[in-house]
Amino acid sequence: MSAIINSEKEHFPVLLNELVNIISPHYDGTFIDCTFGNGGYSKKILEHKGNNILAIDRDEDCKKKALFFKKKFNKRFNFHNIKFANLNEIKFQKNKLKGVIFDLGYSLDQINNLSKGISFKSTGKLNMQMGLNNFSAHQVINELPYEDLWKIFKYFGDEKFCKPIAKRITFQRKIKNIKTEDLIKIINSTKKKNFGKINNATKVFQSIRIFVNEEISQLINGLINAYNLLPKGGIIAVISFHSIEDKIVKFFFKEFSQHKNLSRYYPEAKKNENKFKILNKKPIIPGQDEIKANPPSRSAKLRCAVKVGTNSDFISFKNKFNYLIEIENLSKKL
Ligand SMILES: C[S@@+](CC[C@H](N)C(=O)[O-])C[C@H]1O[C@@H](n2cnc3c(N)ncnc32)[C@H](O)[C@@H]1O
Repeated sequence: MSAIINSEKEHFPVLLNELVNIISPHYDGTFIDCTFGNGGYSKKILEHKGNNILAIDRDEDCKKKALFFKKKFNKRFNFHNIKFANLNEIKFQKNKLKGVIFDLGYSLDQINNLSKGISFKSTGKLNMQMGLNNFSAHQVINELPYEDLWKIFKYFGDEKFCKPIAKRITFQRKIKNIKTEDLIKIINSTKKKNFGKINNATKVFQSIRIFVNEEISQLINGLINAYNLLPKGGIIAVISFHSIEDKIVKFFFKEFSQHKNLSRYYPEAKKNENKFKILNKKPIIPGQDEIKANPPSRSAKLRCAVKVGTNSDFISFKNKFNYLIEIENLSKKL
């Protein structure tokens, strides 16, 4: 998530100044804000009169905010309620595109909307859908077999207790459907004690949310489509919040930014063409003041790169993370 939560529970985006410093040399053109949310980044970018925004969000609750932006910024702003993996379907003047921005995860508004079931404070039927989903957490927890559940908890949540938690779920759901509060109880009673500062249920909740929203394929396809849409010289900036996301983003930029020891059979033209110039070798992270004001921001990482090539072969990228896509594909049973 990228919300800064101050005492009034306002929402404003993480690393905003850092993002603007990175993208402002590219100003005077169109930017795609793939994760519009509460519009924090879009608003800042639109402050520069030469910029236009194409905003995307899968959550239809964002439409209200988008309408407000449309009234204020008129032709300079357009909103699409789609998933960002489909950003290539938007019709617009591509030669004006200067940058594509991803602020991954969920917003404070989404956590505070308890019916979405992302917060531990939620009760009742499991949900976790951000929008435009094919299934919900209710189906995942109450229908998928034991082997699939523990794999989801392990690979999308790095949950050490993945197997005993999955076992208890499959046992308890024989008696009645598992609701949000039941799942939290199962996790707490399996783990028995609190591990570190984070809530016992954090990892399992994260893993289900990633699975329900197909966040891995969304990110992989979103990044590839962003690259394909951008003209040379355009920038991609991504803010991630957990290690799986960051691993994918880091690999995407790094793998295609340097000459690797490629096989001598690899075509010479492809061997010599880099796709990106990485702008910051190490990710940009929030400073102490920002972390102090909002502890959850401590996991944010901003990575950016400029497109320098035209080659759009991403097979090695897709292969690298295929083991995660295979986990995502377990949903086909639902
Ligand atoms: C961290 S919030 C963005 C906050 C925003 N930068 C701001 O300043 O208010 C992430 C937003 O991205 C949206 N989102 C997440 N995954 C998405 C996807 N695959 N396609 C479209 N929107 C997505 C969520 O619905 C949420 O509103």
